[in-house]
Amino acid sequence: MAPTTPLADHQRHGDKQNSPFFEEYLYKIYTRKEASGLQQLVGEMRAVVIQVEPGEALQYIAEMTLMSSHRLLRCYRGASHNVFIMRVSDTQPDFFILEPRDTAYSGKFAGINKGFARASEKPNVKYIGELYYTKDLSETVGLLKAEEFRFTTPKFNQLMANEHFAFTEISYYTNNMVGYTSTDLLDLDALGLGEPFTLTEAELEPITKAAHAQQMLEITGLVKGLDHLATRVLSGDREHAILEFASLTNYYFWGAYSIDEQNSSTNICRNPDSGELESPAKVFTANNTPYYVNSIVGRPSPTENFVRNFGRRMHHMALAVNDGARPDGTKNIDYVVGNLEDNGIPFLAKIFGECKDIPDLKQIFSKTSPYSFLITEYVQRCHNFQGFFTRGNVAALTHAAGLDAELKKASPSD
Ligand SMILES: [Fe+2]
Repeated sequence: MAPTTPLADHQRHGDKQNSPFFEEYLYKIYTRKEASGLQQLVGEMRAVVIQVEPGEALQYIAEMTLMSSHRLLRCYRGASHNVFIMRVSDTQPDFFILEPRDTAYSGKFAGINKGFARASEKPNVKYIGELYYTKDLSETVGLLKAEEFRFTTPKFNQLMANEHFAFTEISYYTNNMVGYTSTDLLDLDALGLGEPFTLTEAELEPITKAAHAQQMLEITGLVKGLDHLATRVLSGDREHAILEFASLTNYYFWGAYSIDEQNSSTNICRNPDSGELESPAKVFTANNTPYYVNSIVGRPSPTENFVRNFGRRMHHMALAVNDGARPDGTKNIDYVVGNLEDNGIPFLAKIFGECKDIPDLKQIFSKTSPYSFLITEYVQRCHNFQGFFTRGNVAALTHAAGLDAELKKASPSD
């Protein structure tokens, strides 16, 4: 009988076939992190870190104030970046928004983004990665360094040049980093993020207006928090991206579905100890076959087209909508999305999923934010739906995202 580990005992979902390499090393990675203690050290996701262009943080915060239930909590000014913290609750991941102060700023991510047609339009715009809680920061870094993972040198910005945090180098497979902290993020002023500052009344106005609008529309509170985060990678990087991520966190591989009609697969990793609202699922999406055989395969290629335009990166952040309906029977997600649309937030296609009398999902993608290059997904799990998607929804969502005229642009000369 094959030996097992608690992580390998989780039921596997989906129909996507993995290589023998993947199965062998997934098991070995589970065993390694349980033996080394990493599995017990690293815990929930505490924040997502997003860099915007100089001068665009406040617009992005106003946009997310209207679209999410996160609210601006604190602002810090460091040597290179302003850092803005948005929070929905103390037990759910924050948004850490990094804004370079110098209009001529060009950091590590700009070097990557400049190689891609759409990413080069705003080379500093990048979802950087997540921040995970660890019981012991230096022990975690030591363990991972011994396994040949590398960490950023302390000069990147004040978040990464800071004894309270450690970030891996940029992943070859995802262009994301993985960050760690042993703090509870409650005393933000003690974290060396820079000089605290407050916004002027004029600066605050669009943010306050967005919060007020959301309240007037009665959608405040219906949007709960992050549910999952979906990174798009190249076809050949799918297994490496999952295995690398599983090595760096306490997450396990939940399973993967092939969406053949969109020539793509959706691959999900979950925190074994926490629900999605406390520690959102990490999703990796990749083409089943690489672009250079598209003309042979005869399938659309929205996932790899995105990667070719923007580089490997986070594609969307999904926000959970409370299950339930308005007094007139309108499902909460229909109500939220309808009101956001009426207030200028553009969406791709329509809401997919039925949510009638049986457990089901309703989902929709917003258009790409001009400030973060991220899509916001809204998801309502009806009647206690367990899982992350229905095949029909994902096929329709992937198709819709591929039709976005903005995303189709393949080169600067198009
Ligand atoms: Fe999603």
